[in-house]
Amino acid sequence: MAPPDLSALPGILESRPPEPGELLPLLTLIQGRWRCLPEEALKAVSAKLRVPLARVFAVASFYKALSFTPKGERLVQVCCGTACHLKGSQAVAGAMEKSLGVAMGGTREDGKVTLEPVNCVGACALAPVVMLDGAVFGKVNPAAAAKLPLGA
Ligand code: FES
Repeated sequence: MAPPDLSALPGILESRPPEPGELLPLLTLIQGRWRCLPEEALKAVSAKLRVPLARVFAVASFYKALSFTPKGERLVQVCCGTACHLKGSQAVAGAMEKSLGVAMGGTREDGKVTLEPVNCVGACALAPVVMLDGAVFGKVNPAAAAKLPLGA
């Protein structure tokens, strides 16, 4: 795989003040731009904020929304919290795997979709819940899961 084009990185780095408290906002911006955290970008963040690279990696590893490997263009998350589990989220997850052609926790080979489990998103009354690029879809059954507006 070719290394990512990081030509937009200086602009992203300049968009935030050079303070250690900007670490997470910068990592979030980088994740949003490249759908992952390229190593060279992490080194640049470390230098700009004067935060040790080990600390940058530790923060990047801690948050599930941040990833070292590229996520798909569309992010589908199936809630696996207790309420959703009791309402059939496993069947929904199975249907999503089948309709999207990717195993839970993976990204499809064409890079279009990442399917991953997520902990309770705070919408238990709508269980089972699926999130599509952050938008909540509630009371999803396996048949409805296959019809979510993915366009992929
Ligand atoms: S358990 Fe799924 S939204 Fe709470």
